[in-house]
Amino acid sequence: MSCLGRGIRAGALGAAFGVLVLARAAVAAPAIEFPDVDPEWARLGQLLFWDPVLSGNRNISCGTCHHPRFGTSDGVSLGIGEGGIGVGPDRRPDPANMPEARIPRNAPALWNRGATEFARLFHDGRVELAEGYPSGIRTPVGEDFVEGIASPLAAQALFPLVSPDEMAGHYGENEISRAVAEGRITGPGGAWDLIVRRVVAIPAYRDAFARLLGDGEEVTIADIGNAIAAFETYEFRADNSLFDRFLRGEAELPADARRGMELFYGKAGCAACHSGPLQTDHEFHAIGVPQFGPGKAAAFESHHRDPGRALVTGAEGDAFCFRTPSLRNVTLTAPYGHDGAFPTLRAMIRHHLDPAGSLDHYDPSMAVLPELPTAGGDWAELDDAEGAHLVRTSIEIDLPDLDEEEIDDLIAFLGTLTDAEAARGRLGIPEAVPSGLPVDR
Ligand code: HEC
Ligand code: HEC
Repeated sequence: MSCLGRGIRAGALGAAFGVLVLARAAVAAPAIEFPDVDPEWARLGQLLFWDPVLSGNRNISCGTCHHPRFGTSDGVSLGIGEGGIGVGPDRRPDPANMPEARIPRNAPALWNRGATEFARLFHDGRVELAEGYPSGIRTPVGEDFVEGIASPLAAQALFPLVSPDEMAGHYGENEISRAVAEGRITGPGGAWDLIVRRVVAIPAYRDAFARLLGDGEEVTIADIGNAIAAFETYEFRADNSLFDRFLRGEAELPADARRGMELFYGKAGCAACHSGPLQTDHEFHAIGVPQFGPGKAAAFESHHRDPGRALVTGAEGDAFCFRTPSLRNVTLTAPYGHDGAFPTLRAMIRHHLDPAGSLDHYDPSMAVLPELPTAGGDWAELDDAEGAHLVRTSIEIDLPDLDEEEIDDLIAFLGTLTDAEAARGRLGIPEAVPSGLPVDR
């Protein structure tokens, strides 16, 4: 079975890239396209990205879950959102503000998400370029979405703000969570409007927006999304790895990485999905990653399933399909998979080679799950015969066997996709933010 919903970016281009790589046609290697970023917008976006004032209870920022110390992710399988204290694997629930549940999916890294080819965001692509929608972007709020959003990345930034478990908080806790709980997201008095009011009440933000938009121009939530996206695009651009220099004919790869690259683009079949310059076809595939945690079932359903792309399209054939992740900086972003099921690249690759066996014999100690007293039924879906069976029968991947040395070589190749300069950060983490709230450094 294979996943439906193909379209915007067929595999042909990606496959051609593989041929290019193997021929090492340095001159023809396509550059990764990025929109121009205005440094002033990026600097403003940096402050907003790190400022907890955007969260309902003023206690969590984007950077809390997308932290450079953990490769712009959070170092755990399923994180603790609003109501946590600390960052990464040390993040603990706040007993005075106990989170209701784990975040149901692994926090993806943000490397190169500003590249023009990233037309789809989230593990299920629920924010994506699509004709006929406001700003040309389909989102979970459909026709109601705001105008003036510059890119899918800017649109994405508005959704953690209104997610109770991520940033908004729960009913009754603050004015933003109350608006969310009552279904008021867009429009005057909606959650996004309330966030804008909070931001422009702070003089440093009001002045920065006035400089960028012109005096007297009203700041909208779209401006906040656009600023955050400008920062992400600038800060997390990672296209100067050893592999990039190799493609440009400026460097050689070590022998093991070279063998790994030949496997990746050849016999091992990785480039069937991890194609193109960012090692993703931006399509959805079912590879049977074991499911645990709260899942994404609708409120009235009792299971802990995560149907993946099917949540967006409603098509049965899309069940358990997740977007192929880009492999740029993948050495920095463990754990792996949409729920962080695998702690190492070796375990993740082994899973690809025998997905059904891996699913049947998954060792729960591989999951990195912080203590959370309110987390119920973490293993319910994996232990449920029907749930596991549905995932197993969705698997579409069938790769040739590889021996341990070949896996070593693949890992060596993946290591050449790390951009050390990007990993060190450009604007970095601000010392302080305009709200004066503490920064999760
Ligand atoms: C509580 C942790 C948490 C916070 C806070 C958070 N995120 Fe995320 N982020 C996630 C998770 C988990 C996902 C994946 C969700 C999914 O696919 O359903 C995600 C997805 C994303 C993506 C999509 C990446 C991709 O590969 O498609 C981007 C971009 C992003 N977040 C940026 C942000 C920004 C900007 C903010 C602040 C406005 C933010 N995040 C706040 C956890 C968090
Ligand atoms: C049929 C398409 C397909 C093929 C072929 C494929 N992958 Fe994947 N890969 C995926 C999908 C889809 C995911 C994400 C699955 C999920 O999140 O549940 C993934 C995840 C990964 C990850 C984890 C990345 C992260 O950030 O979580 C790595 C590493 C990886 N693949 C490497 C490889 C290698 C190496 C090969 C070749 C041996 C390969 N893949 C072949 C589709 C594929």
